Amino acid sequence: MDTSNLFSLKGRTALITGGSRGIGRMIAEGYLAQGARVYISARKADACDQTAQELSALGHCVSLPADVSTMEGVQALVAAYAKHEDSLDILVNNAGAAWGAPYEEFPESGWDKVVDLNMKSPFFLTQALTPMLKKAATDHLAKVIQIASIDGISVNPWETYSYAASKAGLIHLTKRMAMHLAPHRIVVSAIAPGPFASSMNKEARDHGDEVAGRVPLGRVGTPEDMAGAAIFLASRAGDYVVGSTLVVDGGCAWGR
Ligand SMILES: NC(=O)c1ccc[n+]([C@@H]2O[C@H](COP(=O)([O-])OP(=O)(O)OC[C@H]3O[C@@H](n4cnc5c(N)ncnc54)[C@H](OP(=O)(O)O)[C@@H]3O)[C@@H](O)[C@H]2O)c1
Repeated sequence: MDTSNLFSLKGRTALITGGSRGIGRMIAEGYLAQGARVYISARKADACDQTAQELSALGHCVSLPADVSTMEGVQALVAAYAKHEDSLDILVNNAGAAWGAPYEEFPESGWDKVVDLNMKSPFFLTQALTPMLKKAATDHLAKVIQIASIDGISVNPWETYSYAASKAGLIHLTKRMAMHLAPHRIVVSAIAPGPFASSMNKEARDHGDEVAGRVPLGRVGTPEDMAGAAIFLASRAGDYVVGSTLVVDGGCAWGR
């Protein structure tokens, strides 16, 4: 057994939605360190360009700004990516949004925005990129990694109804898509993060010590925690993990 290159992503291409900051950026950094050519996407072009420029110090990193919550945005991203590469080894469906409001007042817009981006986009972006994923799946498998959440597994006290439902839906969608795509040598899996410091999780970012008190392991997640899980699933090491969701949360989902 040769484990020296089990986790290598040398020569692989990766497209990461929501790669301009937070968890997407953590994954982009990890993939670059493992030798992949990385493409990151987000709506705000300036922030996306800036991150790609910073990460370029680690390897090949290109910014492809797009809004993946719409079908037009999905098509635009696929077209922009196709100008650089003719196949895709790793797709990370990471871009996501949350919405919190009291039960009595929770608006329809808080469902549409969240479900469109968190559950519908991963399906349609993967569907649109499937020909390029198939093309990459030659001597190795192509990978699709969905970024779900522990909120799709266990119930938290916050009134984020559509977010929790969208992440639970994404976890189940991962299984269904995995069943369809595995015979085509495209492996679909998911990560369910616990608290990681980001713009979405301002509590973990700004009150890390307080949040840490609710985590059985006693701390919030680090960029290495996220990169480690994402590298495992993307590389040869994670080939036999099909349709599953890897929980990366310091024990929160079961302990909170
Ligand atoms: N942080 C946590 O504790 C945590 C825990 C569990 C799960 N997650 C999940 O992890 C993923 C990343 O979250 P995060 O915490 O890193 O959030 P974040 O810091 O808010 O980053 C979200 C990223 O997605 C992009 N984005 C948002 N809407 C988009 C759209 N319509 N089209 C394209 N890109 C879009 C953002 O850039 P623009 O605003 O420029 O578009 C940004 O790059 C999400 O799916 C989230 O649900 C996070």
